[in-house]
Parts: sequence; structure tokens; C-alpha cells
Amino acid sequence: PIKKMWGGRFEKGGDQLVDQFGASISFDQEMAKEDIMGSLAHVKMLKKTQILSGADADKIIGGLNDLMTELEEQGLPFDVENEDIHMNIEALLTKKIGPVAGKIHTGRSRNDQVATDFHLYVKERLPKIIFALKDLQQALVNLAEKNVETIMPGYTHMQHAQPISYGQYLMAYFQMFQRDVERFTFNKQHTDLSPLGAAALAGTTFPIDREMTTALLGFKKPYANSLDAVSDRDFALEFLSNASILMVHLSRLCEEIIYWCSYEFNYIELSDAYSTGSSIMPQKKNPDMAELIRGKSGRVFGSLMGLLTTMKGLPLAYNKDMQEDKEGVFDTVKTILPCLKVMTGIIETLHVNKDKMAHATQHDFSNATELADYLATKGIPFRRAHEIVGELVLKGIKAGTDLADIPLSEFKQIDTRVEDDVYQVLKPAVAVQRRNSLGGTGFDQVKAQITAAKQILNK
Ligand code: ARG
Repeated sequence: PIKKMWGGRFEKGGDQLVDQFGASISFDQEMAKEDIMGSLAHVKMLKKTQILSGADADKIIGGLNDLMTELEEQGLPFDVENEDIHMNIEALLTKKIGPVAGKIHTGRSRNDQVATDFHLYVKERLPKIIFALKDLQQALVNLAEKNVETIMPGYTHMQHAQPISYGQYLMAYFQMFQRDVERFTFNKQHTDLSPLGAAALAGTTFPIDREMTTALLGFKKPYANSLDAVSDRDFALEFLSNASILMVHLSRLCEEIIYWCSYEFNYIELSDAYSTGSSIMPQKKNPDMAELIRGKSGRVFGSLMGLLTTMKGLPLAYNKDMQEDKEGVFDTVKTILPCLKVMTGIIETLHVNKDKMAHATQHDFSNATELADYLATKGIPFRRAHEIVGELVLKGIKAGTDLADIPLSEFKQIDTRVEDDVYQVLKPAVAVQRRNSLGGTGFDQVKAQITAAKQILNK
């Protein structure tokens, strides 16, 4: 085995299995760009503070710039003997410019280095996720706009409750995703901190300039405490929590898409492009993509649980356990971005069976609240009105008739103040249209939500 960068106090070389086991290069090479960026900022600062001579620093800067170009153009050759991305980059730099490369690690540790890389990695991905979320929100708004007056059953306990506008339903998801946008936006705050210069845990005796590296890397400010800087993974936990909540939202939406595509519901039909067939049943058109998004929530929650568990018992400061922080975060980025894009496509291309939705509200007694409200406006206490209507529903179910089939004379027996207009009130579309309390499903309210949503998206 090659001599380790930290091999001075060791007498024997490592065991291959142990090297493999301890290495993180197989996954942390994902942060190669961030690692070079961090090193560039560090060496520029070492030059400016004259901790390194201009000549040495320039050699290192040149080497790092070359490595960055090679990384972008053809990728860099990493090996497991060099354990992780930090030592791999340093080894490649040494190969390029000789032993002067070793001066890069002056006043620095892998502990602040890895934390810096990881912050940069998450920080760069947050805007991409927010962007993808906004695309999905836009798709929802577009579909809602076409469906303000599309009537469907609203459910509680999966039972028909009251008719609603499909636009109202879609705008509920808009709001959920808006909170996701806000959470990921807030996530920036705790990610936008520079750990660089915390060194191993205690800072350094070198006269480093943390403000400078913070500015060079585009971080808002440096961590205030060196111990916290190398121990903190809250930004990653927040990211995974936010991603998990986002997956809850996507998964709930998927669940509804999946059963609304079923023969029994048939409220919507997915585009062929977002469906798959069966290898045996020729008639099948399966909502596989929605199922896959629903299923992928599992790995995202798993990553959150994994990192929470990894962190929960760790004493300050760095512990090797923390090497386990990355894969779940990388995987989550690679999971939620395509989930958002596929969901956007599903929403953009789905066909709404408006008749089927509206039909489902015809004979389901979901206008019962309308009748109770109507009687209440005539002066009957709501509790009593509720009871009366409940009895009418029971009678209707037994006789196979609707509330709207009840003759006026019978309504008059309940209360002489009932008039002809009761039949208007009992129509599902009218029931929806009239629910114009703030945020309600009334058409005007849904339109107002759409207007407000467009303003949010155009900001
Ligand atoms: N590969 C390590 C990680 O991912 C880098 C930090 C190592 N620091 C140390 N003292 N072993 O966490």
C-alpha cells in the first residue's frame, strides 16, 4: 500500500479491506468541484495574508485551476488508496506541481474542508430545487385556471363530503408546494455559512482571514464558533427534512392520481408518455410514474432517519461517523429533482374527465349541507336542521331518490318558509359557486387564489 498522507506516526501500512471500508472516494467525488473551489479560496487567502509566498501560492493556484479544467473536460482519476476527495485532489495536485502542493493544507484540516465542500454542495442545489418546485407550481396554476368551474366531489374520510372545484383542489397543492419553496429558501440561511478556517476544531495560530475565504466562496458569513463549524450538520438535516415533507406532498398527490386513474373513478387520464403498459394484459395503462414517485418517498425519509440517527449521539467535534452524512443527501438531490420534473410533466399532460367528476356529485347527497344551511337561514337552529336533513337523506337512500326529488309541498311541511329557490341551492355547481368565504371553493375565491399565485410565481 502507498504511504498515507497522515502516515508519519504509523509503523505498518493499512489493510486493504480497512482502506476500502474507511474510504469515501466512491461517493464524495461528487464534491470534487466544491473541493477544488474550497482549496482555491484557501490558497488565495494564504497568499494575501503572506502565510505562503506569492510564488508558492501561484503554483498551487495554477495547479488547482488545471485540475478544475481537467475535471470539467474529462474527469479526474481518483483512487481508493487516497481515501477521500480531499486527499485525492491533494495527491493529484502533488503529481502536477510537486511537494509544494503540501503547503495547501497550512492552517486547514479535512474537518473544515469537508464541511466547506458539503455546504457548497447543498447551497448550489437549493436554487435548482426551488426552480423545479416553481415549474410544478406553474403547471398546477395553469391546470387550475382551466378548471375553476370543474365540479368534483370533495372528500373527508374518503367519503363524499361536499362538492368542490377541481381548481380549488389543485390550488391546495400549490399552497403545499409554496411552503416547500419557503422551507428550502430558509434552508439557505443555515447553509450559507463558511466553516473554512475552523481547521480541525479549534481554529489556528496562522493569521488566516476567514472573512476573505467566506467572501471568495460566496458565503454570507463565517461560522462564529470553530467547534460548531466542524460539528454542525443541521443544514443537511434541514435539507433532508424539507425534502421529506416535499415527498409527503408529492406522494399524496400521486396517491390521488393513481386512484383517480382507476376504472371506478376515471376522473383523469394520464398521457401515454407518463404511463406504461403490461407485458401480459393488453388493455392496461398503468400510472407507474406516479407510483414510483410515491415509492421514492421511502428512500428520502430513510436518508433523513439515517442522518438523524448518525448525528444524535455524536460528541463534538468531528467523528468519522459523519462521513455517513453525504450519500443520503446526494441521493435525495438526485431523487427529488426528477420527481419534481416528472410530476410537472404529469400535471401538464393529464386529461380531465370533467363529466365524470361532475357526475360523481349528482346522486351522492353531498348537497345535504346545502339543505341544512338553507333551513338554518330560514331560522331553524342548525343542529335541528342537521337532524331533519339526516332523516331526509335516510329516506332518500331507502327510496332511491335525491334531495332535489322532494316536492315543495313536503319541504313546506318541514318549514313553511321553504321556497322554490331551494332547488337552485341543491345543485352541486351552485353549492360550489356560493362558497365564497375567504379561501373557499367558490369560483370567485378560486380565481382570487390563482391571481395571487401568479403574483407569487412572477416575483
Ligand atoms: N472523508 C471524511 C468525511 O467524509 C473527511 C473528513 C475526514 N476527517 C478526519 N479527521 N478523518 O467525513
